[in-house]
Amino acid sequence: MKSFENCEKLQQRALKSMPLGVNSNGRFWGKGITPYFKRGKGAYVWDVDDNKYVDYRLAFGPVILGYAYDEVDECVIEALKTGVTPGITTEREVEVAEKIIDMCPATEMVRLVNTGSDATQHSLRVARAYTGKDKIIKFEGGYHGSYDYVLFSTYAPPSAYGNRRSPITIPASSGIPAALNDLIITLPFNDLELLEETLKRHGHEVAAIITEPMLGNFGSADPVPGFMEGLRKLCDQYGVLWILDEVKTGFRVAKGGAQEKYGYQPDLTTYAKSLGNGYPIAAYGGKKEIMSVVGQGVTQGGTYVGNAVAAAGAKATLEIMTREGVHEHINAMGTRLQKGFKKIFDEAGLPCMISSEPAIFTVSFGIDQNLDARDWSKANGSLYKKIAAKAFEKGVLIDEDPREPFCLSYSHTEADIDFTLDVIEDVVKHL
Ligand SMILES: Cc1ncc(COP(=O)(O)O)c(C=O)c1O
Repeated sequence: MKSFENCEKLQQRALKSMPLGVNSNGRFWGKGITPYFKRGKGAYVWDVDDNKYVDYRLAFGPVILGYAYDEVDECVIEALKTGVTPGITTEREVEVAEKIIDMCPATEMVRLVNTGSDATQHSLRVARAYTGKDKIIKFEGGYHGSYDYVLFSTYAPPSAYGNRRSPITIPASSGIPAALNDLIITLPFNDLELLEETLKRHGHEVAAIITEPMLGNFGSADPVPGFMEGLRKLCDQYGVLWILDEVKTGFRVAKGGAQEKYGYQPDLTTYAKSLGNGYPIAAYGGKKEIMSVVGQGVTQGGTYVGNAVAAAGAKATLEIMTREGVHEHINAMGTRLQKGFKKIFDEAGLPCMISSEPAIFTVSFGIDQNLDARDWSKANGSLYKKIAAKAFEKGVLIDEDPREPFCLSYSHTEADIDFTLDVIEDVVKHL
């Protein structure tokens, strides 16, 4: 039996200085069960009780190569010695921008920013400036950042979303100005007919549709064949920009993200997470003509953007991805894990749906269709939570929240996957 004594002590202490004892609400798992991190190396993390875990959270996705990845860290340490935030552009930033453009086919110009939220927020501003329109469309259950414009119909139970023909837009938090409700339209994902009807009525006031390539915040909802292509056509027809939010999928599902893998042609794309292997960097970019409004009456700045730590982390990460078979390895490990899960759960009579990509996927029990957040609400989240909690006790770290994905890294080995499958098999046996 593992001891969690130090985790509990640190939580008691942290609760006195930080709301919920954490700096991001999703890190709070509950009193007495919230882990506190000591260190990570490769695919493993250790909590403050020195319990070791094979990690599939990977900090909600960024750690694509592995924790404390030597080559990346050495590059960052070198950069540190040159002064972290010069407030003047470095060659390193230009190199990162060039590399992103090389890797991502629909991205002709980029700006580096600090977080995924910065990236989506700036791309919305650019879209509004470029089209001269104010409203945006997002899909129910989608998460695009922590700021007020996009925090609608994200966490509410789908019963609150109303009839799918006339969805109710629900703010995800107290403190969001009611006035912003008028600037957003929320729709169920994967319903092209409804999207078309909505654009017929509102296309003249809609600046952009923002979506992930596969919605990854309620299990994973993959697009049905033709949905993204139809969305692209409707955008062209109604003068609306398509913002593809690749904060999670960028540099993860393929070198050039989902836009490379599936040949999508968005107008703007956002990146973060895997771009820097955990160093805090993000980017947004797209067609040259659209990006060229930045600086031409469209403001975007930031004290820390392009700082040495972030840019060096991204430079090294992208170089390694280009040079080595990172994605081949991750896909092989993800496929091995998915196949193993399917076998274990099928044999145990626990039907589950595994959706999305080998590099990032979710397991949802009790449903065989996840077209939108309304479908996913029927999944058996409590079974998932039980399995996650038991796996955690046995050294496998998956998020306790059933909406969150499994992420694979370049450091996961076949032995890690097989260990994980043994743990899950054992957990399921004793459920
Ligand atoms: C799809 C998507 N967009 C945007 C964000 C916001 O990124 P950040 O947390 O870096 O602000 C997230 C974060 O999880 C995300 O998953």
